[in-house]
Amino acid sequence: MELKNDRFLRALQGQDVDVTPVWMMRQAGRYLPEYRNTRKQAGDFISLCQNPQLACEVALQPLRRYAFDAAILFSDILTIPDAMGQGLYFSEGEGPKFKKVIRSEQDVDKLPDIKVADDLSYVTDAVSLIRKELNGSVPLIGFSGSPWTLATYMVEGRGGTDHSHTKVWAYLEPDGFGKLIKLLTDAVTIHLLQQIESGADVVKLFDSWAGVLAETQFRRWVIEPTTEIVRRLKLAHPEIRIIGFPRGAGVLYQEYAHATGVDAIAIDGAVPAAWAAETLQRDRTVQGNLDNLALMTGGETLTNETHRILGALGGGPFIFNLGHGVLPKTPPENVTRLATLIREWKA
Ligand code: CP3
Repeated sequence: MELKNDRFLRALQGQDVDVTPVWMMRQAGRYLPEYRNTRKQAGDFISLCQNPQLACEVALQPLRRYAFDAAILFSDILTIPDAMGQGLYFSEGEGPKFKKVIRSEQDVDKLPDIKVADDLSYVTDAVSLIRKELNGSVPLIGFSGSPWTLATYMVEGRGGTDHSHTKVWAYLEPDGFGKLIKLLTDAVTIHLLQQIESGADVVKLFDSWAGVLAETQFRRWVIEPTTEIVRRLKLAHPEIRIIGFPRGAGVLYQEYAHATGVDAIAIDGAVPAAWAAETLQRDRTVQGNLDNLALMTGGETLTNETHRILGALGGGPFIFNLGHGVLPKTPPENVTRLATLIREWKA
């Protein structure tokens, strides 16, 4: 389909753009009153994700307010472990938790054989609906968690830990832990293929906990499975564009970018913009990396930080985003201000 606004895809392909494209992680979320209303209508966050009509509605809400250059599927990375029978729930103020944990090869062997197509059909239904409602206005991003990050949640049973159960298991029994990673690599690949086939124009891999690993482990549990996923997606859909986000990877961002072959590399807020321009941006598109607290703070902080990032990265293939998701206390008008700053910026 011809897109009315293809800035985001052009930037992903390294082509010239009139102005820097922008979208934001968690652009549909609690900082928007209309999101809070729709979530109330759904009952809770998980029910919202599982209702394609309402998921579609919230995915479109930020685009009605702001001149964003891409939409993102409304879902969560933890739908895959949930479909594997882990029993996902959210406890107020504490984030995601699972009723069951996986701590051994025997636990992996007992995992049900998930049929991603059936068990996650609510996600692909949401993709088709959002795509239809966008009606060619802007591209749609599909996504998945990466195997390592999904494994940390399945092993720890919750977020907010030091990941020691996962890391120690991976050190002591790399073959057993590797079975879990292999299972997740297959599930992520199938899930992304189905999102692409339902209408996602681009896919993004969120490896939120990549930054907790030593380099040897980073290569084995982040780079290797990601390379495999990228290879299989490109084999089936050579034209698909893939964004990788190994959050917190530091200098290993460079090796991740080269080895995995992702088209664009998303960077967190701690990566120096000038370093990213000199290294990562030489051979691929960079996406990032305004601190979400600078967006929440607003005022001169927001102006200065936005100009600093645009100054370093705005001349190359670049997509403006945050270093991590929008925070619930962010004033919606700060997002309007950010979009204006980007639109008015000249290299
Ligand atoms: O970016 C988007 O707008 C697309 C939707 C999206 C959500 N989660 C919606 C969501 C995406 C891409 C995610 C990814 C995700 N989910 C990640 C990777 C990115 C990251 O944040 O590191 C992770 C680790 C998760 C797991 C998860 N889901 C967490 C840690 C939380 C936060 C819990 C909290 O209370 O803040 C969620 C919930 C979640 N996912 C919300 C949204 C909008 C907030 C839910 C609500 O309405 O209460």
